[in-house]
Amino acid sequence: MTRPEDDDSDFEGLHPPGLHFYGRRKGRKLRTTMQGLLDGQLPLLRYDPARAPAVQFDLQPDDIFLEIGFGGGENLAALAAARPDAGFIGAEPFINGVASLLRHIETRGLSNIRIWDDDVRLILAGMPEASLAGAYVLFPDPWPKRRHAARRILAPAVLDELARLIRPDGSLVLASDHPVAKSWLLRAACSHPDFRWTARRPTDWRERPQALVPTRYMKKAERESRIPNWFLFERRRTDPAS
Ligand SMILES: C[S@@+](CC[C@H](N)C(=O)[O-])C[C@H]1O[C@@H](n2cnc3c(N)ncnc32)[C@H](O)[C@@H]1O
Repeated sequence: MTRPEDDDSDFEGLHPPGLHFYGRRKGRKLRTTMQGLLDGQLPLLRYDPARAPAVQFDLQPDDIFLEIGFGGGENLAALAAARPDAGFIGAEPFINGVASLLRHIETRGLSNIRIWDDDVRLILAGMPEASLAGAYVLFPDPWPKRRHAARRILAPAVLDELARLIRPDGSLVLASDHPVAKSWLLRAACSHPDFRWTARRPTDWRERPQALVPTRYMKKAERESRIPNWFLFERRRTDPAS
């Protein structure tokens, strides 16, 4: 019998050989207004991997942040609204989520978000070293089964890229509500020589950082009695004294 977690029927492969995206690209049929946002706004706001990140924003920002898998875009919109001087790049291959972010951008009048509507791994290598002030990986798909471990987004290669891209003293914010995912996220980042977990007391991982908002995904987890945790890492300086 096929269990839901074993059913890969709506999972699609990605173009380059060896790089496979295991999530959903499409959900329910989009309403006309949402499709209109995708058709009209996405081409204007799409991140261009061939150009330096900083020149893609109206005001060249000193600080650029990346969110990997922004879901419905609630956090990306909140972060961008709180830091109009900074630039935000969001990567999300699920087109319904992209449409949702475009609605937040329109409603809040945001001009500092660029969107990569595909697998984040396709743009990391092309971004310049130390070009990010921080990155967010919030509630990634948990892939709790051992045989699916290779599907987890924070694979060593991705973490190495994030270590290259996040400037010294920059931040890496991780979150999860799934016990297995919490442990693989923590293990991956804690064992990486370039990242330092900043937690000093349990409230540091139990309380949502102020800049973040509860997303639809997070609220569902709480309704289902799963406990969310947040893990804040700092990109170490390379000098041995740090
Ligand atoms: C469980 S959802 C969480 C969404 C959101 N971060 C939140 O907290 O509500 C995980 C998201 O990661 C996205 N995702 C998975 N693999 C990805 C990849 N390789 N690049 C970019 N996004 C990815 C999925 O499409 C999905 O929307």
